[in-house]
Amino acid sequence: MHRNNKYIAEDLKFSNQTLEEMKLNSKKFYLAIRNRRSVRDFEEKKFDIQIIKNALLAAGTAPNGANLQPWHFVVIKNSKLKKKIRQAAEKEEEDFYNKKAPQEWLRALQPLGTNSSKEFLETAPYLIAVFEKKYTIDKKQKIKNYYVKESVGIATGILISCLHFSGLAMLTHTPSPMTFLNKLLKRPFNEKPFVLLVVGFPKKESKIPKFAKKKKDLNEILTII
Ligand SMILES: Cc1cc2nc3c(=O)[nH]c(=O)nc-3n(C[C@H](O)[C@H](O)[C@H](O)COP(=O)(O)O)c2cc1C
Repeated sequence: MHRNNKYIAEDLKFSNQTLEEMKLNSKKFYLAIRNRRSVRDFEEKKFDIQIIKNALLAAGTAPNGANLQPWHFVVIKNSKLKKKIRQAAEKEEEDFYNKKAPQEWLRALQPLGTNSSKEFLETAPYLIAVFEKKYTIDKKQKIKNYYVKESVGIATGILISCLHFSGLAMLTHTPSPMTFLNKLLKRPFNEKPFVLLVVGFPKKESKIPKFAKKKKDLNEILTII
């Protein structure tokens, strides 16, 4: 069934798995993705940027509002720029931890043991700044984008899954506010920083907070009607 003459017949590349294969593969994906952990101590070890590019190609396939693809990604590998980002992020984080953060938020963060020091922004080989585009500017015209946060969130989820699947560790970092990224990365005003992903290999002695490993049981997050 086609909807109108703008639809094309394309071989939808479904994999035609048996029910058994489908069950096995969904379980395999879960077993792989449940090992993803936010890492906060990185080796300085570099790796081929192609892995990041492949993960970004995957992110770019995300479902999104009206296929307007309201995202932009900046990969930062330059050490001087990483240092500047660290300095700017630490300044915001000092303000956050010492002045701006409500007690309730600080209490929620306590089990993570995080503070304003962000050494990982310099040691990790790559940072990926994800930007959301509220609107696109095309030939000086403003084109409104739809479901921007939802779309960029889904794209970022695919990006994180692909990085993990490729054997990389990462952290979702959100120094608040992140507007300094527009200035340092020379991004236009129609783009807003969404998250800053820190990507690399974990330090051997890197530990993760016990608290973060505990995920809700299925019966806590699921209702089947
Ligand atoms: C939108 C978002 C923002 C986050 N910001 C930070 C951050 O700024 N600093 C940090 O150390 N962790 C940050 N995290 C990581 C969370 O603390 C972490 O995902 C959570 O504790 C669960 O741990 P896990 O990722 O190891 O499962 C962020 C995660 C998300 C999804």
